[in-house]
Amino acid sequence: MKIISVVGARPNFMKIAPFMHEVIKYNKEHKNKVEHLLVHTGQHYDDRMSKAFFKALNIPEADINLGIGSGTHAEQVGNTMIAFEKVLMNERPDWVIVLGDVNATLACSVTAKKLHIKVCHIEAGLRSGDERMPEEINRLVTDRLSDLLLTPDTLSIENLKKEGVPDSKIKFVGNIMIDTLESNREQASNLQISKIIEENIIAGQVFPFSKSPLLHVPQSPFALMTMHRPSNVDKKEILEPIIRFLLDEVIEDMPIIWPIHPRTQKQLQTFDLWEEVLANKDLILLHPLGYHEMLKLNMEAKIMLTDSGGLQEECTVLGTPCLTLRWNTERPITLREHGGASVLVGNNIERIREEYQNTLKLNRTPERPELWDGHTAKRCLDAIINQNEA
Ligand code: UD1
Repeated sequence: MKIISVVGARPNFMKIAPFMHEVIKYNKEHKNKVEHLLVHTGQHYDDRMSKAFFKALNIPEADINLGIGSGTHAEQVGNTMIAFEKVLMNERPDWVIVLGDVNATLACSVTAKKLHIKVCHIEAGLRSGDERMPEEINRLVTDRLSDLLLTPDTLSIENLKKEGVPDSKIKFVGNIMIDTLESNREQASNLQISKIIEENIIAGQVFPFSKSPLLHVPQSPFALMTMHRPSNVDKKEILEPIIRFLLDEVIEDMPIIWPIHPRTQKQLQTFDLWEEVLANKDLILLHPLGYHEMLKLNMEAKIMLTDSGGLQEECTVLGTPCLTLRWNTERPITLREHGGASVLVGNNIERIREEYQNTLKLNRTPERPELWDGHTAKRCLDAIINQNEA
C-alpha cells in the first residue's frame, strides 16, 4: 500500500508527527509494507512556523515540498492543486491522508479525488456552522469527498451522520494531537519559563527584564495569549479594543505572554498599534514558539486567551482555564458545558471582561474526553489498513 500524507500549516505538524512515527514502527514489524511519502505544501514557510516543529517533534523532512507560500485563498488552493496533481500523477498512491482544516487539506483532497485516489481525513466531522470561516469550507468539502473519515470525538460522528455520511466510512479514533501532547509532556515540563522568554523575545521591548516577575514563575501568575483569526485581527475596530482590554485591564492583574502570529504582527503594524504594544513592559511579545515551549507555558498559565482550536483542545487536557476569542467553535467538546476548560467570548469586550473575571476564580481541572488517550495514531493507521484491505 502506498500512502501520501499532506501537511501545509503549523497545526498540521503536531498531527502528522505521531502518524509518521506509527508508520515507521509498523514498517519495522511488517517488512516495509507501507510505502509512505510526506508532502509539505509550503503554506507555512518561516522556520519558526514550520522547520522548528519538524525538528522538535522528530518528523522526517518532507519528501516533497511544493513551496506554495502565502497568497489569497484561491492562489494558495489553486497553486497547491496544480503542484500536487503532478506529484500524484508521478507517484500514484493508493491513499492520500489529509489533516485538519487548512488550505492544504482542501486542495489536496479535491486533487486526489479527481484522480480517483482514495482520501482519508484525520480530524473529520468538526463543524462550527460558520461558513464565513475559511476552515469550515475546507472541512465541509474535505469530509464530503473523503472515503475514510477519522473522527476525534463522538459529537463529530453525529455531525457526519446528519450530513448523510454512511457508517462504513466513519471511524472514531480520538484526538491525534493529544498523542503529541502526551509524548512531549515530560520534555516540556523540564523547560524554564524565564529561558523561553529570553530565547524568544521580540527585540525592541523596553521592560526591565531583570526585574520581571516572570523570573519567579511559576510562583507569579501570568496570562497566555494567542490570536491569529482573520475575524479578530484583520479589522482595526475589532483588534484595537482587544488590545485596549489587555493593556488597560489584564496587565493590572498579571503580565501577559503573547507569542505572536506573523499575520497579527503585520496587522498591528498596519493599524499603528505595534509600537505601543511593544513598549508595554507587562505585555511580553515573543516570536512564534516551538511545540515544547508553548506546551510549557500552557501548563503554567493562570489563564489562556486564544482563538486557536488546537490550544482549546490542549487546555482541556491540561485543565488551563481558557477564554476562546470566538463566537462559535467546531470543537464544542472543549467547552465547559461539555466538560472542557474553555468558554466562548467572541470579540465583544463586555463579554470578554465578564468571563475573564469569572475565569480568574477557576482552578486548573484537567479533563480527558473519550479516546484522547495518546493512542490515536495507531487507530488511524489500523483503520486505513483495514479499509484498504476491505
Ligand atoms: C492558517 C490556517 C488556519 C490555522 C493557522 C495556524 C488556512 C485557511 N488557515 O492560517 O486554519 O489556524 O494557519 O497558524 O489554511 N506567514 C508568514 N510566515 C509563515 C506563514 C504565514 O509570514 O510561515 C504570513 C503570510 O504571509 C500571511 C499570514 O501570515 O500574510 C497568514 O498566513 P496564511 O497561511 O495565509 O494563514 P494563517 O492565518 O496562518
